[in-house]
Amino acid sequence: LAQIDVDISHIQPGQAIKTIWRKQPVFLRNLTPREIQEANAVDVSTLRDPQTLAERTKPGKENWLITMGVCTHLGCVPLGAGEGENRGPFGGYFCPCHGSMYDTAARIRQGPAPKNLEVPEYAFTSPTTVRIG
Ligand code: FES
Repeated sequence: LAQIDVDISHIQPGQAIKTIWRKQPVFLRNLTPREIQEANAVDVSTLRDPQTLAERTKPGKENWLITMGVCTHLGCVPLGAGEGENRGPFGGYFCPCHGSMYDTAARIRQGPAPKNLEVPEYAFTSPTTVRIG
C-alpha cells in the first residue's frame, strides 16, 4: 500500500506503537512533556545528524514523533516501541544489533548508526488519524 491511515487515539503519552508501511516498521510515539523537554535541551550542534525536534515533527504536534523503525546502521528494528522494551540511556530507542542509541527525538546519540531514524512522509488527516505515505 502506498498510503496507510493509522488511528493514534489510543496512544497515551509515553507510549509508542509499531505499524507496518511498505513492508517496513514505522514507530508512532506520543512524547511526554518531559521527553519533549529533553529533546529540546540538546545542543543540536553536538549531534551527528543535527536536527531539532521541531524539524522532525509537525507544527503544533511536537508530541507526535513518527519515524521509520529501521536502524540507520544495518537496518535492524530498534527496541522501544513496545511494552517494557529497553529504550536505552537516551530514552528514545535502542538497537540491540550493535548498540545504537537514539534519543527522544529518535536522533542518533551513540553507537554506529550514521543518521537519525528517518521521518517518513505523513500528514494528520484528523486530530486522531495519521496518513503515512
Ligand atoms: Fe542497529 Fe547496527 S543495525 S546498531
